[in-house]
Amino acid sequence: MSKDVDPADLMALCKRRGFIWPSFEVYGGVAGMYDYGPLGCALKNNIVEVWRSIYKGREGFVEIDSETVNPREVFKASGHVDEFADKITYCTKCQTPFRADHLVKEFYENPDILSLKELDEAFVKHGVKCPECGGDLGPVDEFNLMFKTNIGPGSNRIGYLRPETAQGIFVNYNNLYRYNREKLPLGVIQTGRSYRNEIAPRQGMIRMREFNQMEVELFVDPEDKGWVRYDAIKDEKITLVPNTTEQPVEMTIDEAVTKGIIANKVLAYFVNTTKQLLLRLGIDPARLRFRQHLDDEMAHYAADCWDAEVLLSYGWMEITGIADRGCWDLTRHAQFSGTDMSHFKKFDEPVEMEVDKVKAKHKLLGPKFKAKAKDIAVAIEAKDPEEAKSGKIVISVDGEDIELTDEFYEVVRVTEKVSGKRVVPHVIEPSHGLDRIFYSVLEQSYDYDEKEEYTVLHLKPEVAPIKVGVFPLMEKDGLDAFAMSLYEKLQASGLASVYDGSGTIGKRYARMDEVGTPYCVTVDYETLEGDLKDTVTIRDRDSKQQKRVPVDKVGEIIRNLMSGADFDKI
Ligand code: GLY
Repeated sequence: MSKDVDPADLMALCKRRGFIWPSFEVYGGVAGMYDYGPLGCALKNNIVEVWRSIYKGREGFVEIDSETVNPREVFKASGHVDEFADKITYCTKCQTPFRADHLVKEFYENPDILSLKELDEAFVKHGVKCPECGGDLGPVDEFNLMFKTNIGPGSNRIGYLRPETAQGIFVNYNNLYRYNREKLPLGVIQTGRSYRNEIAPRQGMIRMREFNQMEVELFVDPEDKGWVRYDAIKDEKITLVPNTTEQPVEMTIDEAVTKGIIANKVLAYFVNTTKQLLLRLGIDPARLRFRQHLDDEMAHYAADCWDAEVLLSYGWMEITGIADRGCWDLTRHAQFSGTDMSHFKKFDEPVEMEVDKVKAKHKLLGPKFKAKAKDIAVAIEAKDPEEAKSGKIVISVDGEDIELTDEFYEVVRVTEKVSGKRVVPHVIEPSHGLDRIFYSVLEQSYDYDEKEEYTVLHLKPEVAPIKVGVFPLMEKDGLDAFAMSLYEKLQASGLASVYDGSGTIGKRYARMDEVGTPYCVTVDYETLEGDLKDTVTIRDRDSKQQKRVPVDKVGEIIRNLMSGADFDKI
């Protein structure tokens, strides 16, 4: 369990035991693409279930599942078509592409904020050449990271594979808002695949071209950025690296909010929720910190952003981003789609307010539009006063668009009793990189004893792919039938179990330890007859302790242990 883990050793284990396989290996593989094997799938699903249990269970969020291919309009509005790019350079000799900022990372603290021109200049200043062949590097350019495709035959409808699951939630805002009976806060989660056409993916599962996210989008009243359970966690301690310092500081959540380090209570609450999630999954608190983005590092949509970073063999790595996206997404989708995406915020009491209203000039409309004048007046008075102030509006009556100048209307200020106002919700987003969390959980639980040549994955029982290994001491004399029947009962009760009768007991324990199985149960001759009839031994992976327990209590005992019961006290 040290940060000296060699990722190659861990990946070898993952491959051998069916956690992770490089995709398309029979065809030579593709960088940045991996398949999950049976144990990997189980571990990944268990991580998702813990995340679900927190958001759907405790916080009452709802879950959706939206399309992965989206029409261009979605990402034009979201800003990804114009903004979602890395900086690329090609070697002029061997044509190898590189991420330009990666080539100068030894000279700058934050090379990813350098402009195209600054990167060109940095190559010259520091004599940077192609790492493959030593050739000169070409001009630095933008490379959009989205995979482009066509929806339907031909190229009339451009689509993109989504680079984040979040947009599927934003474009469904009105459906979700209705579903939530037009109330805020409105919390929505989604897990699924996203795609980024990385220029040169490295670092194994840390940078994948097709990856899994667990995203949370919380729509809140922009004038109320508190959270109902904030007081319950405000004294929790957290390690932060604010963007005003490079040194981590430990403080309480409430200190961070009061001092203005974290922008608001709801953002701080979900920074803390992220910490709780990661610790429950098995991340080591001593190797976890929350780093605030620098102003020029922030994504185009973010008003404040904190990364949960874990210390891995690769160094500190971001595995979750918790952003305050403000009203960026809903404002943009409302503007680009022409659909209202706001919330009607009711006042406690109706209040008298001065408001602008568009008033139709009936005397002029009658003579000009005759029978249609009444409908036109209604349409005029439904217009947004701000738009009308431009001096020109377009209304639609009986399917006909009619352009009118302010000769036919006026914007007047009136005092009236209003019961509420429309606001555009702000979005708080904890966005989890599922594959990165998966890898971090594995790396931080990996323990290789070089002398003994023995590997243990100290996975938390809740996420371990197999909870119980069931062994007959020997595969004969009825021990095998007894063990098989116990295995079938445990499996049917919902505890992921395996039966293993081959090799020595030591080898069988080793096989289970290597994949992180927290408990093994052995059926021996005493199980079948004598004073200890109908008892079995149960072994704890981490302490290697063993206890004899009644066979009909095994399932219950394992469930208690998984919920934190002390092995000594069973
Ligand atoms: N939704 C944030 C991200 O994918 O990075």
